[in-house]
Amino acid sequence: MKILVLNGPNLNMLGKREPNIYGRLSLADLEDNINTLAKNLGVEVEFFQSNYEGAIVEKIHQAFGRIDGIIINPGAFTHTSIAIRDAFLSVNIPFVEVHLSNIFSRESFRHKSYLSDIAQGVVSGLKEYSYLCALNYLVELLKH
Ligand code: DQA
Repeated sequence: MKILVLNGPNLNMLGKREPNIYGRLSLADLEDNINTLAKNLGVEVEFFQSNYEGAIVEKIHQAFGRIDGIIINPGAFTHTSIAIRDAFLSVNIPFVEVHLSNIFSRESFRHKSYLSDIAQGVVSGLKEYSYLCALNYLVELLKH
């Protein structure tokens, strides 16, 4: 089983960026933690981060026929991107939307997501555990 973990804009700045909101882990630390869980679950994970909307759209297209499930933190594109929504609808790969922060306890412009209604589920506000919960769930979902 192969899972793709996608991170959108500014998530390469994790650890340095607003640590009170996003935590102190770097993106590399976060990916290490996800890798450790993936090994325990016996699944393969691939990571991709980009600050560019089109690069994320292309990565979702390239997942077609190759990747079983996707975990995505779309960053600010959550609240703006019909293109990423349409990419998921094009490939029809099950995905979980994750956020480090609780987007519903923040500014009202963060309450709207273009992905939530087509995601298997959304995990928001559990810092790095949002990704780990999503991985546990996706693996269960794909096994059955
Ligand atoms: C985020 C929340 C978004 O609103 C924000 O633009 C991000 C990160 C999160 O992980 O909490 O870049 O997706």
